[in-house]
Amino acid sequence: MKILVTGGAGYIGSHTCVELLNENYEVVVLDNLSNSSEESLTRVKNITGKSLEFYKADLLDKKEIASVFQDHKIDSVIHFAGLKAVGESVLVPLKYFHNNISGTLNLLEVMDDFNVKNIVFSSSATVYGNPASLPIKEDFPLSATNPYGRTKLMTEEILQDVYCSDKSWNIALLRYFNPVGAHESGKIGEDPFGIPNNLAPYISRVAAGFLPRVNVFGNDYDTLDGTGVRDFIHVVDLALGHIKTLPKLFTNPGVVIYNLGTGQGYSVLEMIKGFEAASGKTIPYKITDRRPGDIAACFADPFKAKKELGWEANKTLADMCTDTWNWQKKNPDGYRESQGEN
Ligand code: NAD
Ligand code: UFG
Repeated sequence: MKILVTGGAGYIGSHTCVELLNENYEVVVLDNLSNSSEESLTRVKNITGKSLEFYKADLLDKKEIASVFQDHKIDSVIHFAGLKAVGESVLVPLKYFHNNISGTLNLLEVMDDFNVKNIVFSSSATVYGNPASLPIKEDFPLSATNPYGRTKLMTEEILQDVYCSDKSWNIALLRYFNPVGAHESGKIGEDPFGIPNNLAPYISRVAAGFLPRVNVFGNDYDTLDGTGVRDFIHVVDLALGHIKTLPKLFTNPGVVIYNLGTGQGYSVLEMIKGFEAASGKTIPYKITDRRPGDIAACFADPFKAKKELGWEANKTLADMCTDTWNWQKKNPDGYRESQGEN
């Protein structure tokens, strides 16, 4: 069975490629490398001892997408490709709508042309906006608070409309909570360009001595210790969620929606402590103002995915911190130095 992975060179995509190859799927990756490096795919091959096909191609170019479908008989698409920085999306919304929405429309049109109608889409817990209660279930009301979130919500709606018009589509909307961690080999991991926006890569840069301290965005939230609470999920657990979703798609379920989270919330300070334990280093931090747009707490009810897919997250916060630190130590400059012992 052959799977096209858009955005497969990226953080979640590369980990998913490993698990797909481990399960003996054939893998074709389409990525324009706008936020990733082809080195990640070399490492994927190295970890698994298996090969995959790579197309450096852009979803904004329909001809480039079509050439992949001409060359390969694709059974299903896992669609990770997209821009994902919330703050940047506020500054340049048109870039986000163009890339994430137009890119997805091109992909769907080409899939339709080639009669490939199975797709797994990377959605996000951001589509729940500021939830009225916790834990969050899939049938909670949806809203978007920034252009990035709106691209996720709009894409979910587009996919629902596509299914309404043609019931031969099978579509899984996977709403990720907060992916962190890295493959336990330390060969692949999250490699943000510049100063990270997200908590885990930021803490790991502080632990490594590249940044002086963590800025904790507010300690006056209505949470256990006043800092923000999130459902951090190990990226390998998340990748395995996709592996469990594919067989479901082949049962012709129509549109299915699952939260991929652990169901357990941890605070920013708990995360810092977890990294201190994993790295054996003291991690300096400073309480600063709240970050505009942040919510106090967010964690999933992951029961539906357990019941219908037989999937649940197994890795602990200690695993997330240990594996992030292992990746950071072995790759201080991410994929940029490379080619060495990794
Ligand atoms: P990432 O940036 O590491 O991976 C995305 C990949 O898509 C990159 O390799 C990038 O080069 C590629 N890409 C972007 N635009 C493209 C285009 N027009 N054509 C071809 N390739 C393109 O991000 P990630 O963390 O692996 O996220 C994967 C998906 O999951 C994204 O859709 C993201 O919005 C979603 N998601 C991520 C998080 C998170 O916190 N990491 C949370 C929820 C949802
Ligand atoms: N935080 C800090 N300091 C930092 C970075 C973050 O205190 O330097 C805090 C935030 O205030 C928040 C928590 O750490 O309380 C997590 O923040 P992240 O930026 O790591 O993650 P978010 O929950 O804000 O958002 C992430 C992705 C979104 C995605 C969402 C749900 O960035 O794209 O998870 O999946 F939609």
